[in-house]
Amino acid sequence: MAPRYVLGISAFYHDSAACLLRDGDIAAAAQEERFTRRKGDASFPQHSVRYCLQAAGIRPSDLAYVGFYDKPLLKFERILESYLGVAPRGFAQFRMAGPLWMKEKLFLGDEIRRALGYEGEILYAEHHESHAASAFFPSPFEEAAILTIDGVGEWATAAFGVGRGHDLELLQELHWPDSLGLLYSALTYFTGFKVNSGEYKVMGLAPYGEPKYVDVIYRELVDVRADGSFTLNQKYFNYLTGLTMTNEAFAELFGGPPRVPESKLTQREMDIAKSIQVVCEEIMLRMARTVHHETGMDDLCLAGGVALNCVANGRILREGPFRRLWIQPAAGDAGGALGVAQLIWHRYLNQVRALKPETDGMHGAYLGPEFAPEEIAAYLDSVGAVCERLERRCRLQRVAELLAQEKVVGWFDGRMEFGPRALGARSILGDPRSPSMQAQMNLKIKFREGFRPFAPSVLRERVRDYFELDCDSPYMLLVAPVTQERQIPMTPEQRRLWGIHQLNVVRSDIPAVTHIDYSARIQTVSRDTNPNYYDLIKEFERLTGCAVLVNTSFNVRGEPIVCTPADAYRCFMRTHIDYLVVGPFLLDKAQQPEWKESGEWQREFQLD
Ligand SMILES: [Fe+2]
Repeated sequence: MAPRYVLGISAFYHDSAACLLRDGDIAAAAQEERFTRRKGDASFPQHSVRYCLQAAGIRPSDLAYVGFYDKPLLKFERILESYLGVAPRGFAQFRMAGPLWMKEKLFLGDEIRRALGYEGEILYAEHHESHAASAFFPSPFEEAAILTIDGVGEWATAAFGVGRGHDLELLQELHWPDSLGLLYSALTYFTGFKVNSGEYKVMGLAPYGEPKYVDVIYRELVDVRADGSFTLNQKYFNYLTGLTMTNEAFAELFGGPPRVPESKLTQREMDIAKSIQVVCEEIMLRMARTVHHETGMDDLCLAGGVALNCVANGRILREGPFRRLWIQPAAGDAGGALGVAQLIWHRYLNQVRALKPETDGMHGAYLGPEFAPEEIAAYLDSVGAVCERLERRCRLQRVAELLAQEKVVGWFDGRMEFGPRALGARSILGDPRSPSMQAQMNLKIKFREGFRPFAPSVLRERVRDYFELDCDSPYMLLVAPVTQERQIPMTPEQRRLWGIHQLNVVRSDIPAVTHIDYSARIQTVSRDTNPNYYDLIKEFERLTGCAVLVNTSFNVRGEPIVCTPADAYRCFMRTHIDYLVVGPFLLDKAQQPEWKESGEWQREFQLD
């Protein structure tokens, strides 16, 4: 029998994406931003759809169903009711949201059919059902509790339920405007970072601060109940009514106006970051306990943008009542495309799951485009790049040697990752033992804030030799401490260093991936999902005794992760990356012809 294909789409909010299932198995998935090079691109994911269809070698008419990840009418109703409920203050926001929604969202079915050239049926799932499906169906669990937490979908801002076999049921939800995602985003905005992408920076900044504002947050902003549900005090927020997230009353609580983006970070921002992080962790832990109590399940699946808070996830794993935890790597709205496709396959078409208890159904999240050596060669040739083609064994040896010499290597290999983290397919790699690697990579390669920590990739079987963790963390969504034996205690003088100056204190024998609180955001690497990356780390271990590499995403600040060989070469030439590996080719920066570029780009990214 010919295979059946289901296409899932998420779009028009943030992180548009497409995902294609072939007989229920994930054949392809990608985010639109990677193709259009616009970070968080929310437009109709035409490039992603085209890629998915091409990867499977099918036409739109071959699709059995198309699914959309939320219900636009319900969402519109929420916007309208919020607007009416607080009118006339809401006018600014409504005006902004109105026309786009009328045009693109309410007539969405026609829009999708037209854009795809598809005539068949389009099904809509609820936003949190899509998140829940993306959390449970690809998980390794036969049955599990599910918790989804994000900014907002139609009305829900968090939901929990149970997945069993090939079905799932959501039991309870929390409603707009009480939203943990929006609370975190409000503080992200207030500390001068971009909403929807800067949350990660706030989490990274938190260890430099003191939880000074926790009491203020609990007293004034959020009334948390024992079960983890809460009410936000709307007196302080502007997102119902205005275009900024917080108002003057909010600023008074935190001793003055929001930090101007790009201005100097002060202790206040660090203390705010620490405080909101503490509150977020506490709410998530309470929610997890409630979900455990209500469902009686041993294992938990997580999705929704807030599930990218890997510090909180690490605490749920260590302190929460669940035995195991599985987190969807594309936890944000991009993952909704996967979720709705799986809802159609399992629930609507009543198809059983092909359970993979040893790993999961994500194929390591390597679901994006890949490029044949001939295609790569043709591109490199076209720009006059100087490269060497090496057979696999020799290539891995050479790269491991270069890394051991503290060279920074751009590593472009195989299918691109689905989800916000680079997992060894579109990564920049370095030696974690080097005390200067963190500063070097932040400032000379990523052009980003010096405070931000880097993540380690570690061989799965060696994880507990380095970290207080002994389970899979294939998607870099769990944070755990570096083992006690590897930690280097700070001297009293070092402890007295102010905030960010602690950055240069060597804290372990893998300093480049040890955050100032001795934590690390861990990716465990298994041979079955990424043999090249696994063998590279293995080779590095053979040379150095160290089974860990620094892994950061292959991009510069403000830019989406690279997708094509052209993106990779451009990023390589614009930064201080020393070597580039693209498929079978190795490139030395010193041998490349001069890279000519207009001043435009320089200005653009510096301003981001
Ligand atoms: Fe969402």
